[in-house]
Amino acid sequence: MEENRKLYSAVQPTNNLTIGNYAGAVKNFVALQNDYDCFYAIANMHAITVRQEPAELRKRTLALAALYIACGIDPDKCVLYVQSHVSAHAELCWVLNTFTYVGEMERMTQFKDKSRKHADNINMGLMDYPVLMAADILLYQARFVPVGQDQRQHLEISRDIAQRFNNAYSPTFTVPEGIYMKAGAKIGDLSDPAKKMSKSAENANGSVFLTDDRDTVIRKFKRAVTDSLSCVKYDPENQPGVSNLLSIYSVFANKSVAEAEKEFEGVGYGDFKLAVGETVADMLAPIQSEQARLLQDKAYLDGVLKSGAEKARYVANKTLAKVYKKIGFYGV
Ligand code: TYM
Repeated sequence: MEENRKLYSAVQPTNNLTIGNYAGAVKNFVALQNDYDCFYAIANMHAITVRQEPAELRKRTLALAALYIACGIDPDKCVLYVQSHVSAHAELCWVLNTFTYVGEMERMTQFKDKSRKHADNINMGLMDYPVLMAADILLYQARFVPVGQDQRQHLEISRDIAQRFNNAYSPTFTVPEGIYMKAGAKIGDLSDPAKKMSKSAENANGSVFLTDDRDTVIRKFKRAVTDSLSCVKYDPENQPGVSNLLSIYSVFANKSVAEAEKEFEGVGYGDFKLAVGETVADMLAPIQSEQARLLQDKAYLDGVLKSGAEKARYVANKTLAKVYKKIGFYGV
């Protein structure tokens, strides 16, 4: 049998993406596209589990398509599409719901966090979020899923659901494996490195957005918390702020953490933070201008998403048909 080289991942079009999303996910998407059959989605169905402004969601969907391409994803090599364009996601999610237990969804860390954050809107979708994610991955028979560490628990449950279904019937789904970046899989907030850098952080100074201009990027890095040890060393336990900055530098300068450490030996924190900020800003500038250029060409982006949806639908519907048959849905 042919080796399965299918790879799947997605990003939600909520807020602006942060350098955490880039370091943990998008950079890896680009690196993997030459070696795998990649499906990259814009997860707008996941996005609505938290209330979104409709015009804004529409705008961010196209902006994320442009960003993917601006970061180096080649739509001729990968299938780039919008999740809601492929109805099989919602359909498979329904089936998989019957293989998922309420108790295990209630225990999901992200569900608990988001329930706290959005206490006025703990909707069923929020709880069902990991099952929709399982449906995403399993529809494409993806063997690999590049994500940040915060998605590890969701990936584990996708594996459990796949195995449960396979055991109940016969092998139907590929059981997926996560791919995590060495340095970038868990970028911390600049003002509180124990927390993950998030698109929706309350403190905007702690998150660097891919849309931030040079001055903003540098200002945020200058304010990043460090410690009183005065040495640039990778030691997440005792020097979480400095280690986080080293991880960021390593991702954006394309160097290993050890190389970065060596480079900043004996350098003061002020200069170190400035250097990290400048490196990030230098990397972001061409991405931002390419994204802006692409957003001028809506016809091109629509064409990419349309052809992506067609290719995605073809693969997804094949899996869905198999599932429907196995569970006993009558076909005519
Ligand atoms: P989302 O949109 O929250 O995040 C997109 C990707 O960015 C990673 N990430 C981080 N990596 C390192 N450091 C950080 N601080 C950081 N913050 C976010 C996330 O791990 C993710 O890889 N549920 C997913 C989207 C999704 C998906 C899927 C992913 C929907 N369906 C199927 C894989 C497969 C999410 O919330 O992404």
